[in-house]
Amino acid sequence: CDTPKQKGKTSWSLDEYASSNGYYKEIWRPGIHFTPQINWMNDPNGMVYYDGEFHLFYQYNPFGQKWGHMSWGHAVSSDLFHWKHLPVALLEEDGVMIFSGSAVIDWNNTTGFQKNKDPHPPMVAIYTGHYTNLGHGLQNQHIAYSLDKGRTWTKYDKNPVLDHKMENFRDPKVIWYDHEKCWIMTVCLPLEKKVVFYKSKDLKKWLFLSEFGPAGAIDGIWECPDLFPLQDRDGNEHWVLIVNLNPGSYAGGSGGQYFIGKFDGRTFRPITNINKPLWLDYGKDYYATVTWSDIPESDGRRLSLGWMSNWEYANNLPVAPWRSAMSLPRQWVVSGKGKNLRLQQTLPAEFLGLRRSGKSLDHATVNEANQFIKNQFVDLQPPFEVSATLVPRHSTEPVRISFFNHNTQKTILEIDHMGRMVEFDRSQSGNVSFHPRFPSRTQIPLEGSNKRIHMKAVVDNSSIEIFLNDGLQTITSRVFPVDRGTPITFSGDEKTRLLDLHVWKLKRSMGIKD
Ligand code: FRU
Repeated sequence: CDTPKQKGKTSWSLDEYASSNGYYKEIWRPGIHFTPQINWMNDPNGMVYYDGEFHLFYQYNPFGQKWGHMSWGHAVSSDLFHWKHLPVALLEEDGVMIFSGSAVIDWNNTTGFQKNKDPHPPMVAIYTGHYTNLGHGLQNQHIAYSLDKGRTWTKYDKNPVLDHKMENFRDPKVIWYDHEKCWIMTVCLPLEKKVVFYKSKDLKKWLFLSEFGPAGAIDGIWECPDLFPLQDRDGNEHWVLIVNLNPGSYAGGSGGQYFIGKFDGRTFRPITNINKPLWLDYGKDYYATVTWSDIPESDGRRLSLGWMSNWEYANNLPVAPWRSAMSLPRQWVVSGKGKNLRLQQTLPAEFLGLRRSGKSLDHATVNEANQFIKNQFVDLQPPFEVSATLVPRHSTEPVRISFFNHNTQKTILEIDHMGRMVEFDRSQSGNVSFHPRFPSRTQIPLEGSNKRIHMKAVVDNSSIEIFLNDGLQTITSRVFPVDRGTPITFSGDEKTRLLDLHVWKLKRSMGIKD
């Protein structure tokens, strides 16, 4: 795996690695996705915006490349793509691991943590304390605060703030509910497949409000929830409840689902059908997805990030000395009406800043598209972006888009407009042998138009993210191509037209030394 420089070497100190000339040069190290410099990462945590900085905390093992010693790693960015690594924010301590949770800006100093001289409002992290010194581990909810823009942290001395003496009670996500000037916490009872809502005036004392679930997908435990209001394009407000699920997701293993409905400060009432799960993504690598807190009203976007992995094989990915990547950040909108309300995920405008050079072609056949890519993009390497509007017209054959095509190696997206099905096949995508659950083929019913199908793919060194019909459906997938081969090839009937085709080389945003 990875670069020859690392052959035989199994452990690195951060300093040793950061000063090596192999820093971020591993073949499968993403160029535009967030990855920890070294060691293990899982869920995004505590995503919050303050004073020009997007903060990303994440489940982190400071001591190894597999899950353990869970702590909160930390990074900041001004544009969601160029991340600056900061020291670990919250460390495992006294047998208490720092599990997943959220962070908020306590603008009104409801906690009283801000004293007279402190120039910044408290940034408060609300997380699950996981006790390793008590058998399986008691889980309860803790808080910690920072008065210096997230740089240094103090754990609250009266933790825990919410405790039911349970072994499975985790992943608090807190929002400010302006209507009643209080905080609302959404937290999971994983084994019971329920989320529970609590309210608080000061983030310290929590009162039970109500429960939701089991509902939707229940073939796995419920983790990492999120609840927030989101307007549709006509300005109507809806409430979205995110529930991550492991295993039992659409493509198998870990994944996410959502419900859209109403929230009155006490109870969440879904409008969408709770008997048929609504999937956040159809790929195998999009888990623990939650959204940013405190995006200014003048911006108004709902932005998210997911962990681009799956508990089925996360500990076995063939990479070193880092392990795991986040998805690209996404912007969410609500479309449709009533029971047909849906979430659409697109890329935030900051993504356009990564485009280096691009070329387009209009009204092409699949052969013309291949010729164009061959002529114009001989040296195309990830990261890159490709988008096309496919018009199948009278064709009866599916359109196939292959990525990293080399001899028998390829990852295939097949769009069958007649059968209204899409297949994503990574069974021969390169290195698939590190875990039996990794090679996979997933069939997905196509939603939206089948007359004009819009497809965008963002391809990095070890991932492909596909956005169909403006993000009405997404497919997020890790792939480990052994040979990069031809970056993209189209195949299908000559009657199929590509109304437009755009290919952009993207600038790398991670692993750039200051
Ligand atoms: C989800 C999860 C969370 C937990 C964390 C522990 O991936 O299992 O429920 O807080 O990871 O690392």
